[in-house]
Amino acid sequence: MNIQHDITIALTKGRILKETLPLLSRVGIEPCEDLSVSRKLVVATTVPRLNLVILRGSDVPTYVQYGSADLGIAGKDVLLESGAAGIYEPLDLGIARCRLMTAGPQGTDSEVELKRRVRVATKFVNVARAHYAKKGLHADLIKLYGSMELAPLMGLADEIVDIVDTGKTLAENGMAPRELIADISSRLIVNKAAMRTRHASVRAIIDALKSAVTQQVAA
Ligand code: PRP
Repeated sequence: MNIQHDITIALTKGRILKETLPLLSRVGIEPCEDLSVSRKLVVATTVPRLNLVILRGSDVPTYVQYGSADLGIAGKDVLLESGAAGIYEPLDLGIARCRLMTAGPQGTDSEVELKRRVRVATKFVNVARAHYAKKGLHADLIKLYGSMELAPLMGLADEIVDIVDTGKTLAENGMAPRELIADISSRLIVNKAAMRTRHASVRAIIDALKSAVTQQVAA
């Protein structure tokens, strides 16, 4: 891969990172540090002029929006929540698939249906507000930063809006999934200005990842 500009890609740490690294490897981008042990936040790669930054998912769109990172890899859940202004989303990478859903304690669905106001705990407050408004329900939103499944158990909320993958966390806490809000996967995002000013380099990365994703789907 021939990169003519200094390019930074913002990656989402955690589960998405584990699925991102093999994808980057297939297009010849290897971090120069072992990310499972290194605490470095800026990491050079085997491609000259191409660096990675490792961030919390919700910070990835912010870095890309402001152009501090030229490209990023983020979950669609985070992009929906952030509004993704000033960002192109040219490619669905098809990794870290899951669902963004409402959920509540098993057997209490009908109670929520009868309510005019529903108390909802989530870290996706913008997505949740839009979802309940579309249903004509007023949602009192309670912002949490993790372990959303605990909120109904502790009487903090009637429902939650959260990521469901296997459904194990919900089941083990006496909860059940209810409505699907969006199917989620990780997306490649690009700063709009970088797309113009660093076009050749950005295009080379998008095209390489696109062909890797297509080959993966065909395999
Ligand atoms: C996510 C999500 C659920 C869990 C769902 O949390 O918030 O808690 O995964 O997975 P499951 O359906 O396979 O049980 P994550 O571990 O990503 O941490 P978080 O609390 O930081 O979001």
